[in-house]
Amino acid sequence: MTKKPIILGIESSCDETAAAILTEDKNGKPIILSNIISSQVNVHKEFGGVVPELAARSHLEKIDLITKKAINDSGIKTNEIDAVASTAGPGLVVCLSVGLSFGKSFANCLKKPFIAVNHLEGHALSPKLNAKLNYPYLLLLISGGHSQYLCVNDLGSYQRLGTTIDDALGEAFDKTAKLLNIEFPGGPQIEVLAKKGDPNRYKLPKPIINRGGCNLSFAGLKTAILKLSKTIKSEQDKFDIAASFQETIKQIMYKKTKVAFDEFEKLTKNKNKKFVIAGGVAANKELRMMFSNICNEREYEPIFPSIELCGDNAAMIAMVGLEKYKNKEFNTLDYAANPRWQLDQNAKFLKGAGVKL
Ligand code: KG4
Ligand code: ZN
Repeated sequence: MTKKPIILGIESSCDETAAAILTEDKNGKPIILSNIISSQVNVHKEFGGVVPELAARSHLEKIDLITKKAINDSGIKTNEIDAVASTAGPGLVVCLSVGLSFGKSFANCLKKPFIAVNHLEGHALSPKLNAKLNYPYLLLLISGGHSQYLCVNDLGSYQRLGTTIDDALGEAFDKTAKLLNIEFPGGPQIEVLAKKGDPNRYKLPKPIINRGGCNLSFAGLKTAILKLSKTIKSEQDKFDIAASFQETIKQIMYKKTKVAFDEFEKLTKNKNKKFVIAGGVAANKELRMMFSNICNEREYEPIFPSIELCGDNAAMIAMVGLEKYKNKEFNTLDYAANPRWQLDQNAKFLKGAGVKL
């Protein structure tokens, strides 16, 4: 029997230092042998957001220990690793550089191939860690820095259907949390507070809801929440704002997902009605339920990564590494960090004042 590849994945694009060991069984089903994540929440808490220099320093302090732990916990020996895959972009350049340099050096020492991975492709392929998934599929990527609908044709082949023209969805959750005085990182806490609130108490704007295809906009919501936050008199007011915000997001995403389905069906002629929802915000259970309902209505199969694999992790980076390894897609050791690496290289830049939809 031929040996199955063993991939070391490394992730350091933002505020999580992570390393994972991935292989597959005889049927090609991925097996996560270890998946270590060290979060920097305590480093950034007092600043209310990620401070790039501190994040990079913390990655530098931890990356070797985290990698050592990933190898030890996996039960494999270092010389059994067949390739090293590191995130090379997008992200904060000072942070990317740490994991990228470390991964390249590690591969060089082992005399094994090095694979540069797009962090967003990691999210895109993250459901493959739990379930079989064939191309093509429709992907909604909702994280702290990105919100996009993409047609995933194949490994490395993406066509963007829509994107945010201002804030990312995770950013909208985080900014709302900050305005409600919730400690960083507040996004996930909105879901918790919303459970105690009235989702219909406040009417909030739904920017570009009836135009712009499946492009998205959330900046107007932030302005409305800022105004509301000045009227808060009780904890209940806070809960009601959180619930109304989350309800508005559900309505926006419901409408835009229908448009994305129409566009995806035109492109693929209804061949593979699979809808993958990935990225940190995909951990939100209320949104997961709404996406499952819309899939039911339109006969799509909804596919979510497991909750633990929605946020940043290195198993998803190793997953891309594994697929690229099998295609023999390797990179040279002078590969540079690419902080703006897009999945669809041909997509137009759609951010800032004066964007025409
Ligand atoms: O994918 P991710 O871990 O990092 C990026 O690549 O950005 O996503 C982090 C984002 C943050 O904005 C965080 O607030 C959001 O995902 N997030 C959530 C939830 N859990 C994480 N947003 C809403 N509800 C949640 N349960
Ligand atoms: Zn991410």
